[in-house]
Amino acid sequence: MTRPRDTVPAMTPSPPRAAAASRIVALGSAFPEQVLSNHDIALRVDTSDAWIRERTGIEQRRMLAPGQNNSDIAAAAARDALDRAGLPPSAVDLIITCTNTPDRWLPSLGAAVQAKLGVRAGVPAYDLVTACAGWLAGVQAADALVRTGAYRHVLVIGSEALTRYVDWTDRNTCILFGDGAGACLIGPVDSALGSAAAEPRGRILGLHLHTDGHFGDVMSLPAGGTRQPASLEAVAQRLHLIHMDGLEVFNHAVRCMVEVSRELLAAQGLAVADVDWFVPHQANLRIIQAVARRLGLPMERVALNLHKYGNTSTATIPTCLDEYTQDGRIQPGHTVLMTAFGGGLTWAAGLLRW
Ligand code: UT7
Repeated sequence: MTRPRDTVPAMTPSPPRAAAASRIVALGSAFPEQVLSNHDIALRVDTSDAWIRERTGIEQRRMLAPGQNNSDIAAAAARDALDRAGLPPSAVDLIITCTNTPDRWLPSLGAAVQAKLGVRAGVPAYDLVTACAGWLAGVQAADALVRTGAYRHVLVIGSEALTRYVDWTDRNTCILFGDGAGACLIGPVDSALGSAAAEPRGRILGLHLHTDGHFGDVMSLPAGGTRQPASLEAVAQRLHLIHMDGLEVFNHAVRCMVEVSRELLAAQGLAVADVDWFVPHQANLRIIQAVARRLGLPMERVALNLHKYGNTSTATIPTCLDEYTQDGRIQPGHTVLMTAFGGGLTWAAGLLRW
C-alpha cells in the first residue's frame, strides 16, 4: 500500500528530557459485549456454575464476537485512556502492547493498534510477552523510558483474546479465561499536557519483575512455534491451545506473588500497613485470598473484578485499577500495591501513589 506524501511523518525525535519520576496520566478499559456465564460453559463441558464459583470465584466472562479481534479492544481501551487524559493520539510517543494472544504472530499487536488508533506512522509500537505479568512489565519499561527522557508519553496496553486460545473441551482451563483490555498512558510526573495535568496522580514508586524459565511447561501453548510448528497433527491433538497444570500454577502463584510484594515493599521502605489498596492479578479468588492472608492484608482492601470478567491475563490489573479509581474507591494519595503471576514462570509487583 502506498501512502500519500503529505502523511509521511517527521522522523526526527524530540530531544530527550529526563524526568524525576513517571506517573499514570490516565487509564482506560474495553470489554467485548458478549457475556459468557458459567451456565453457558456448563453446556459445553462437564462442569457447573456452583463448582466454578466455589473453586475460582468467577461468575461470568466476556467473549469477542466473530470478526472482532484483540486489536479492536486494545485500541478501544487506549482511546478511552487518551480521552480521559484529554489528549489526541498524536501525543503518543510509544506504544507497548502486552499480550499473549495477538491477532497474528506477525505483525505485532502493537502495529495493528497503532494503525487502528490513528497514532501517526513512525511512532514505535511493539509487543511484550511475559504472560500474566505482562502489563506490569510494560509499565516498568515505560517508567524507565519516560524517566530517561527517551519517550514522553507511552501507552501501555494489556489486552487479550483468550477465548480464541482456550480448549473448549478442557474443563480445567476453559472455565477460567476471558477477553478484555486495559490501557494506561504513562508520562513524566510534571506532564503539562491535557486535562489530566490538573491532577498529577498515579505516581509510579517502583516495580520488580522476575522470571524462572525452568518451569516453562506448567503453562504453555505447546504448538505453533519452532519447537512444534503448526500442523494438522498438532491441531488434532489440540496442542495449539492453552495447556496448564492448574495445581502447580496455583502453588507457584501464591508463593511468588507474596515474595515479590514483600521484596518491593521493603525496597521502597514501606510496610503492608502502608498499603491502602491491593490490586492483584485476577486468576482465582482462592489464590488472591491466600496471597492477601499471607501478606496480612484484609480482603476489604483487595480490588476484585474476576467475578465479572474471569482471568483476562495482562488486562486484569489495569482494568481493575481503572474501575476502582473511576468509582472513587481508590482515592488520590492512596498507596496501591499490584502483583501478578503467570506462565514463564514470570511474576511482578508494582507500587503506585494514586
Ligand atoms: O493467570 C495464571 C494462570 N492460571 C492460574 O492461575 C490457575 C491456577 N489454578 C487454579 O486456579 C486451579 O488449580 C483450578 C481452578 C484450575 C482447578 O481448581 P482445583 O481446586 O485445583 O481443582 P483440581 O484440579 O484439584 O480438581 C479437583 C477436582 C478433580 O476431580 P477429581 O479428580 O477429584 O475427581 C477435577 O477433575 O475437580 C475436577 N474439576 C472440575 N470439576 C468440575 C476440574 N475442573 C473442573 C470443572 N468443573 N471445571
